[in-house]
Amino acid sequence: MVIKKEIGNLQKKTLANSGIVIQDLKESNEFLNILFNQITSAIFMVDKDVRIQSFNDSFKTLFDATDEITLGKICGNALGCINVAESNADCGTTKNCEECQLRLSMLTSFLKKIPTDKSLLTREFIINEIRILKYLQFSTRYIHFNNQEMVIIIVDDVTDNEIFKIELENKNKKLLELNQQKNELLGVAAHDIRNPLGVISSFSEIMVEAVDELQPDNLKEMLGIIYKTSRFALHLLDDILDYSKIESGILELKIEKTDYVALVQENVSRNEFLSIQKSIPIEFTYSSANIIAEIDPKKIDQVLNNLIGNAIKFSFPGNSIKVNIIEEKDYIITSIEDQGQGIPEKDIPHLFEPFRQTSIKSTNHEKGSGLGLAIVKKIIDGHNGRLVVSSKQGEGSIFSFYLPKH
Ligand SMILES: Nc1ncnc2c1ncn2[C@@H]1O[C@H](COP(=O)(O)OP(=O)(O)O)[C@@H](O)[C@H]1O
Ligand SMILES: [Mg+2]
Repeated sequence: MVIKKEIGNLQKKTLANSGIVIQDLKESNEFLNILFNQITSAIFMVDKDVRIQSFNDSFKTLFDATDEITLGKICGNALGCINVAESNADCGTTKNCEECQLRLSMLTSFLKKIPTDKSLLTREFIINEIRILKYLQFSTRYIHFNNQEMVIIIVDDVTDNEIFKIELENKNKKLLELNQQKNELLGVAAHDIRNPLGVISSFSEIMVEAVDELQPDNLKEMLGIIYKTSRFALHLLDDILDYSKIESGILELKIEKTDYVALVQENVSRNEFLSIQKSIPIEFTYSSANIIAEIDPKKIDQVLNNLIGNAIKFSFPGNSIKVNIIEEKDYIITSIEDQGQGIPEKDIPHLFEPFRQTSIKSTNHEKGSGLGLAIVKKIIDGHNGRLVVSSKQGEGSIFSFYLPKH
């Protein structure tokens, strides 16, 4: 396209060293043509029917345009606007055209003979048969030239910037969320750890003040409470430390080839000490005695402890527990099934959130932090495995975890 000179009233400025003035250059078609085609903004010009009459090199690059498929075409048809492509209609006639900012700006420029300021157009285009989302910043300028009215549209592709901005906003949002979560966690952790410390403090205070008057039996009982409560506090602290370590991304897995049945058997035997006291037998079955798993045995032991521990904790005397291993082609599936109280349906989606305890309480006043299942989930995720719960209130629960074989 050839732009004819347009003489403004701008002050004449001398270009350093050259002796040429900008004003002179503005009158040079060659200079204007260089500017037009070298500028990084895409520029195109439309007539009153919003048919494209000319465009520059940057426009060609942005929309992969050629003279044949672009010149004389209605704007949206030429650009590959998704609204046009999807409705198989012409630009200006689809149901979305009335709200198209680009169209509105062009028409405003024609109607009022005024420029429009920078606006952002977020739109998908079909370019070379590929659907691409673009963020385009554009402004329009009205010109009256050789008895013809035209609007020039100047477009800058700001897709990269916008995507970067959106990603940054999302990251900031995530950081704020995480920070809030961390504060909540800290609040709950501090609160939970305060209770046992309070008990220990009160009992030891009594003992210090009345040590001479207390009977050996009372002393023993109080020491027993202090011992049990401090064990619980330690346990809780371990869970909190474990969880926060995993949360901050430090889940160090020491993967080893492990005799899986032996690992589970040992865990079941340890837990049977507890379960027998509650008259809850554990039945252990497996599809094959030789199952080699590539896992972190200590971490999976922690998982089993939590799940079997819960099964005992939330079952009544006389209920039984089944632990079963099935070896499949790609997975080793371990399930822990109890006939206990089950879990209300509404609580199931939140079971793995930290400090989340449900209305289902332990059957023998066993204490808990609500961190066990959150830790279990992190460890199984760390193994690229899957954790599945099925539970019915009043009937019992099955927690199954799938460990990939490689
Ligand atoms: N096998 C189960 N049967 C019934 N309820 C369960 C079972 N396992 C977990 N729950 C419920 O989920 C909650 C969270 O479990 P968990 O994270 O292990 O915390 P904790 O055992 O410390 O309470 C428990 O407090 C309990 O309400
Ligand atoms: Mg638990």
